[in-house]
Amino acid sequence: MKVTIFGTGYVGLVQAAVLAETGYDVVCVDVDQSKIEALQQGEITLFEPGLEKLVRENSEAGNLRFTTSPEMGVRGRDVQFIAVGTPSGEDGSADLRHVLAVADTIAAHMDDRKLIVVKSTVPVGTGDKVRDQIARGLKERGREDIIFDVVSNPEFLKEGSAVDDCMRPDRIIIGVSSAEAEQSLRELYAPFNRNREKIIVMDVRSAELTKYAANCMLATRISFMNEIASLAEMLGADIERVRHGIGSDPRIGYQFIYPGLGYGGSCFPKDVRALIQTSEEIRFGASVLKAVEERNNRQKLVLVDKITRHFGGDVSGRTFALWGLAFKPNTDDMREAPARATMEALWQAGASVQAHDPKAMNECRRLYGHRNDLVLCETKEMALQGADALIVATEWKSFRVPDFGMMKSAMKQAVIFDGRNVYDPAIATRHGFELYSVGRSAHRPQLG
Ligand SMILES: NC(=O)c1ccc[n+]([C@@H]2O[C@H](COP(=O)([O-])OP(=O)(O)OC[C@H]3O[C@@H](n4cnc5c(N)ncnc54)[C@H](O)[C@@H]3O)[C@@H](O)[C@H]2O)c1
Repeated sequence: MKVTIFGTGYVGLVQAAVLAETGYDVVCVDVDQSKIEALQQGEITLFEPGLEKLVRENSEAGNLRFTTSPEMGVRGRDVQFIAVGTPSGEDGSADLRHVLAVADTIAAHMDDRKLIVVKSTVPVGTGDKVRDQIARGLKERGREDIIFDVVSNPEFLKEGSAVDDCMRPDRIIIGVSSAEAEQSLRELYAPFNRNREKIIVMDVRSAELTKYAANCMLATRISFMNEIASLAEMLGADIERVRHGIGSDPRIGYQFIYPGLGYGGSCFPKDVRALIQTSEEIRFGASVLKAVEERNNRQKLVLVDKITRHFGGDVSGRTFALWGLAFKPNTDDMREAPARATMEALWQAGASVQAHDPKAMNECRRLYGHRNDLVLCETKEMALQGADALIVATEWKSFRVPDFGMMKSAMKQAVIFDGRNVYDPAIATRHGFELYSVGRSAHRPQLG
């Protein structure tokens, strides 16, 4: 089977490299000329552990190629993956422009039977739209004779462990409307389905909704936990003890119950918004999802509130060290990262920021390089020099055991705002730091 993947972002490039690694002949098509030129030189423009090596080795072996030419991607190739972005539109709905543009491209160049696999996260009903779009394009060319199938195959990889997740998926969801399409996808994924049955077959709409339901469930856990964290803080309880207490229940488990600065990244925020918007379109009041989003929007600013209160309501002229820019560790992705909301609020209030991140420095430079109230520091120690306080926005491993003595001598004031509960309050206090965290407070209000 010859495979083409449209879109060389976090999803498309990883999928392409992993399929090529198992021996498939893979062509990647992207409209971003500079990205394709870099990939042709063996350089990747995003950080994902293990990906660069996989891309380089398979490019050298000749089974992974990159092009901006749609014709090269479509002609004579069996499987066409659509893995382009589906960002939030102005009203929060998923913007399908890129997905439908790829459908047009495929229709314009296809010459024989194709299996079109929608891997992008798309609202329920998009499979039908893609099919109609391609049918229209074929009609314009007088080629209604060409047979094609459109299937849904949502992606569940996690940035930071995307290569591993793709190599060893825990499930492969396929939404199909014909037995032939199911058979082709079973064949395609056979190398990933050896140690147990991972393929779950369903109709296209259910597959599309499965992806949103999964992300919204995880986002709900995070928002729920952040709500309990706020309660804990106001009631004089410790959210970290509560987390242990509930996580030990196997029905709940420990995953996605970390309190913090809210969920960010390229998926949860936009997918929650898109499902709310889908619900609005059918006049269904998705009250749980709306509450999840509202809590998250507030959560992104919990540290800013604490910072402002600590400095007596005015942070203008202050300098803050910021550790962590990516929306989570092991990625350089800053899309909707809580660090961004924090920095932007501080700038708005007249403060400046000295930031460091192990992997997201280039991305931050691309986004905010023009600002003179931001200094990007090559090391985490440099970011501390002369700072009024340290803010921790991402729980990178390298931030976990800091040299408190060095920190104290570098900073103007010994204050830490820990947005990820990385530090033990007892240890920080022993080193003379005033520590603010999420959901932990020494304040014990009188109750009843
Ligand atoms: N990033 C994740 O962790 C993740 C996980 C699961 C699912 N998804 C979903 O997968 C999809 C892709 O996400 P991503 O993070 O890889 O996006 P991305 O923004 O990193 O990459 C998208 C790529 O598509 C390219 N593109 C846009 N229009 C194109 C066209 N007409 N033809 C060819 N290429 C085109 C862009 O240039 C870009 O390189 C989204 O729907 C997202 O919701 C993402």
